[in-house]
This record gives sequence, structure tokens and C-alpha cells, in this order.
Amino acid sequence: MSNVDVPEPLGAAAGMKERISASFSARAADYDHVASVQPWVAHRLATRIAAALSTPPKRILEIGCGTGLLSTHLASLYPLAELVVTDISPVMLERARLRLGSRASYRHMDGEAPDTTLGGFDLIASSLAMQWFADLRGGIARLADLLSPGGRFVFATLGAESFAEWRAAHETLGFRPGLHPYPSVDSFPWPEHCAGTIEVETIRDHHVTGHAFARSLKDLGAGQPAPGHKPLTPAQFRQVLKPFQAGCTASYQVVYGMLHGP
Ligand SMILES: C[S@@+](CC[C@H](N)C(=O)[O-])C[C@H]1O[C@@H](n2cnc3c(N)ncnc32)[C@H](O)[C@@H]1O
Repeated sequence: MSNVDVPEPLGAAAGMKERISASFSARAADYDHVASVQPWVAHRLATRIAAALSTPPKRILEIGCGTGLLSTHLASLYPLAELVVTDISPVMLERARLRLGSRASYRHMDGEAPDTTLGGFDLIASSLAMQWFADLRGGIARLADLLSPGGRFVFATLGAESFAEWRAAHETLGFRPGLHPYPSVDSFPWPEHCAGTIEVETIRDHHVTGHAFARSLKDLGAGQPAPGHKPLTPAQFRQVLKPFQAGCTASYQVVYGMLHGP
């Protein structure tokens, strides 16, 4: 389908990967208590997968399994399939292992630079992990190369309108939020020669204050700012929090993508 070289994880990009992995590893033990949107999205994605596949897949690869929310759905939807679950955080991977035991096999792997010795998957699935890719288009292309003929790559990731309220509060004050840039749904970065489709769902997550929202991202392990982000001073941060003293809505623009194999 595509022929994209796996990039060398050098310099800043490699440092960012290590920070993302460390951040999720540090919070893995509490992740299931804090996650609210993630179980919902994993459930919605599993429903989409079940509706899209007319025959049960024999081999499944999951990217960014975390503690195994989507993996559990995949295991119960397809009890006979070989299930390979992967994550960039070794501690998250151990959490998934606690949940699924011998039902799956486990690989510590960066999903956007997958092990090229893997392949022949009838289903590749990923829930809310690919928003951490540095090169989404390249990552999708490299993963699509691991599909068997007729296989499907089905994922949920975040679109550009995610956390619009939080971005707006920063921009009004002339500040930049630490959020990572997410792709616009109007120009989703499909690799060349990949005919994918997307559906979009906006989920509104309510927090008692802006501080509680910022805290929730950190508690999930998702607090690692975008590369090159200059942190706000405490005084600037207090200014950002002001409009959210009586509540903070965080909109997740969830992009459900589906790609057919060669
Ligand atoms: C928000 S959690 C989602 C976990 C799980 N899929 C869920 O729905 O709860 C994001 C996960 O993606 C993993 N992750 C981040 N970047 C990754 C990458 N480049 N390759 C593989 N996993 C990655 C993190 O370690 C973390 O476990």
C-alpha cells in the first residue's frame, strides 16, 4: 500500500517519546480511576469495529493499549483471534497484562515506528493513542503496511477542535496552551494512496474548575506539553483559570478513522 521509511528517533523527537512514555508510566496505576472519556471512546470504537467487520479477524494488533480498555473489548468480541497489544509505556503494558493475562501477547513498541517484522494483521486498532504521534500521516502509512489483504485499520484519535475552550482562554490572553496540535477533520492527513474515512463525535467532559481540568490531564499521564512549549508563569496561569472558576467544559473532538488494507 505504501512504502514509508521508518524514521530514526533522533534528538528532540526521541526525547519527547521518552517523556510521553515516562508520563504515562508514572500515572498508570491510577489511570482507570481517572479516565472518564477514554472508556466511553473505547466502547464506541469497539461498537464500530464490530459493525464494520463482516468476518472475525484472525490476527489483531492494538496500538497504545494503555491499561487495556479497548483490548478487553477486542478480546471479548473476537475470542479466537491472536491479539498482540502494544504500548510505548512499559508500565501501561504491564497494566494491560494484569487485565488480560495470557489472552494476549505484549510488545513494548512505538506505534508510529512499528516493528517491520510484524505483519499480516486482519485488524489494527487504536483508541486515543495516535494523538501522541509526531508524524500522524507517516505513522498511519507504516501501520497500514502491516495489514493483511482486505484487513482494516480502525482508530479513534483527537481532532483540531479538541479542548477549544481551553485554547480560546489562552489565545484571548495572547498565550499559547501546551496542547499538542491535532489534525483538522477537513484535511485529515491520510497517507497517499490510502482511502480512509472518518466520522466525528464531540464529547463534552465537565470539570468543577479549570484547575481540575488541567489536573485531570496530568493525572491521566497526558500532561506532557507539545514540543517547544514555553510554560506559563504562575501569574499567567491564574489569568487563564479565571473564566473557569465556576466550571470548565473540555470538548473532545473524537475522530473515528477507518482504513482498508491493500
Ligand atoms: C490516553 S491513553 C489511551 C490508552 C487506551 N487505549 C485507552 O483507551 O484507555 C494513551 C496511551 O497511548 C500510549 N502512547 C502514546 N504514544 C504512543 C506511541 N507513539 N506508540 C504507542 N503507544 C503510545 C500511552 O503510553 C498511553 O498508554
